[in-house]
Amino acid sequence: MLNRIIRVLVVGVLAASALPAYAKTVTVEGQNSLRFSVESITVQPGEEVTIELVNNTEMPPQAMSHNWVLLAAGADADAFNAAALGAKDNDYIPSDMADQALAHTAMIGGGESDTITFTAPETPGDYTYLCTFPGHFSAGMKGTLTVASGG
Ligand code: CU
Repeated sequence: MLNRIIRVLVVGVLAASALPAYAKTVTVEGQNSLRFSVESITVQPGEEVTIELVNNTEMPPQAMSHNWVLLAAGADADAFNAAALGAKDNDYIPSDMADQALAHTAMIGGGESDTITFTAPETPGDYTYLCTFPGHFSAGMKGTLTVASGG
């Protein structure tokens, strides 16, 4: 009996330690207004973050698709976005600058969604996210993921 209780306790502790200290899920809608429905997200350093990107547009994919791309600290969002224009075949993620993207969803059309999970940076600060569909970033389709202790 005691053995069994100990075994249950050990399994319980192992299961709990496998979970990240923090986890956050955020649903972000890409809108026809060329804005994300959520333009600021605050997370803990090293937090497990899940982003669900949703596109509810009635417009065709070639006219109104969206992605959600989180850039590394110090990345040049304008340069990344400009390079993305030439990366249509790679879901508008420029291969030669892929190391500047910490995480990204697929490029999705109306009626689609894509969910990604990544570990937030350990370094506190502001990280830009954007949509790299042509014209969207310059129209304002961006936001800030803030990494802050206590966020
Ligand atoms: Cu977009």
